[in-house]
Amino acid sequence: MSITSFNGGQLHGAQPAIRPKITTTTIHEKKLQHEPITCLTAYDYATARLVDQAGIDMILVGDSLAQVVLGYDNTLPVTMEEMLHHTRAVRRAVRAAMVIADMPFGAYHEDEKSGVHNALRFVKEAGAEAVKLEGGAQRVGLVKRVLDAEVPVMGHIGLTPQSLHKMGGYKVQGKDFSGIERLVKDAVALDKAGVFSIVLEGVPREVAQMITREVSAPTIGIGAGPDCDGQVLVFHDLVNLTFAPPAKFVRQYGDAAALFTNAVQQFKADVETRMYPNDAESYHLPKDTKAELEAILRRKEMKAYAK
Ligand code: KIV
Repeated sequence: MSITSFNGGQLHGAQPAIRPKITTTTIHEKKLQHEPITCLTAYDYATARLVDQAGIDMILVGDSLAQVVLGYDNTLPVTMEEMLHHTRAVRRAVRAAMVIADMPFGAYHEDEKSGVHNALRFVKEAGAEAVKLEGGAQRVGLVKRVLDAEVPVMGHIGLTPQSLHKMGGYKVQGKDFSGIERLVKDAVALDKAGVFSIVLEGVPREVAQMITREVSAPTIGIGAGPDCDGQVLVFHDLVNLTFAPPAKFVRQYGDAAALFTNAVQQFKADVETRMYPNDAESYHLPKDTKAELEAILRRKEMKAYAK
């Protein structure tokens, strides 16, 4: 039981006034108006609520949660059920931002039918407004079928973490002419298929700039330089909660590790020195009940004394 349980039955507190809802139309409009698009990952109610209230356009329930929340070495083990569970938590928090669910490894790799089925599960069972899937030209058939099922799709090309073993490690993609050609072909194919945006991850700035000019879908960069239409970062990277040296492209805007450690250490010290909780942090009996209880205790003490 926590303090929120005593909060008049209102478990999460009132949600403040909302800004206009962000949709695929808003995102497309932003590209046309050359307005930068913001995107962050979130995986739980509390962080999703903060991210939404800060005015971020899109919240991606990324499969990076496998690493930063569940502690796996890479994104491959996370399951559909785990992704649905976290997407629901985010959905409950978010009012305005667009909620995008990341299709986990294995959820769309066997055949298009199961890919469509899993995309629909994110919308029906978790309230996602779009799904993201990794891969370029080879995903065009699937993208079209998911779009036919009325689910907007965000593409993801470049350094695609689900292809870790095929790529032979996490390597910047598109560094030579065949790589550049492949990336441009992938971006154009996804754009033609109708994705509403394309994540460009681990791509040289020059290539990302070229693709951004080439395609009508907004490009969302992560390790792809400043010329994309928008930027995405993993929330835990942004606030230093990853327990590893940050990648070159990460800018840490806060130090949650230091903040949390300090709070936990202070709690420990206060409990061990009986400084927490104090009287003001305690519940008290009503005055007359307290007086009655004291009288009972006095009588008990007297009886014991008389024996
Ligand atoms: O899973 C994730 O967080 C992602 C972003 C890095 C784009 O795919």
